[in-house]
Amino acid sequence: MEIQLWRELLDPYQLAVDELMVKFRYLINEHMTSGVYSPIEQVNGRVKKISSILEKMQKKKIKFEDIEKKIDDIAGIRIICQFVEDIDTVVDIIKNRSDMIVKEEKDYIRNAKESGYRSYHIIVYYNVITLTGTKNIKVEIQIRTLAMNFWATIEHSLQYKYRQNMPPHIRERLSGAAAAVVALDTEMSSVRNEIMDSQNSFQIKAYIVAEILNTIRNLYNVANKREIIKIQDEFYNIYKLDDIDILEKFSKEIDVIAEGYRAQGIGSNE
Ligand code: GTP
Ligand code: MG
Repeated sequence: MEIQLWRELLDPYQLAVDELMVKFRYLINEHMTSGVYSPIEQVNGRVKKISSILEKMQKKKIKFEDIEKKIDDIAGIRIICQFVEDIDTVVDIIKNRSDMIVKEEKDYIRNAKESGYRSYHIIVYYNVITLTGTKNIKVEIQIRTLAMNFWATIEHSLQYKYRQNMPPHIRERLSGAAAAVVALDTEMSSVRNEIMDSQNSFQIKAYIVAEILNTIRNLYNVANKREIIKIQDEFYNIYKLDDIDILEKFSKEIDVIAEGYRAQGIGSNE
């Protein structure tokens, strides 16, 4: 097939991947800005390389005209979570969206593959709009924890290295490593609440500090220097206390000051 034809075939898939990455990253942001723990840690995406498509066609005896019908992972999204529990949350989020329709699910977490591979796979239908109109595209979404991703990445590169001939002792060690990954995910789940609490308070603190700095910056335009220096010194002292409640109280106080100036400003313009 000509390279131009490949482009025409693959471009809408690239669009789907780009759009979905924006959407999942937006979800992470929405959680962060509202100070809520995000079940998604990281999102990646890719369009299958032409060479990999050719390889799959050969292996599965797929004809050119059947590529789109028979290959489900031309567009691929990978969602990485911190905890196993987050995976079900992400699955629910996807099922509740109107822009992705679930075609198929494979739960390789409750039913790990023989290799030891674990991940949750969802194939969704997703619409993209191009010059030629609306095109319905299949996208494979793989959802896994950081630990599962670590294992899958290494196993994949070893598979690649050995092709069909992975030595049994390597296979066995990968099997052992897969069991260690299960143990690690279980262990992380058991301290999940504690980890989430500390991450949450870290996020909330970062958010309040950003708000305070923003208010102080705005005050520069309206308040007098001496007052700003006083507020800044007070902020440094409060920051050192490392207490979210006190930070929040301070943030409200300078908000009131800024509000006062704003009211004055509006008054003088009238
Ligand atoms: P494919 O023809 O590969 O699509 O197989 P399938 O249609 O049975 O789909 P499956 O859900 O089993 O696998 C889809 C994708 O999951 C693969 O392309 C890999 O990215 C990943 N995967 C599946 N099994 C393994 C495995 O044993 N090791 C690793 N590293 N990845 C795997
Ligand atoms: Mg597949």
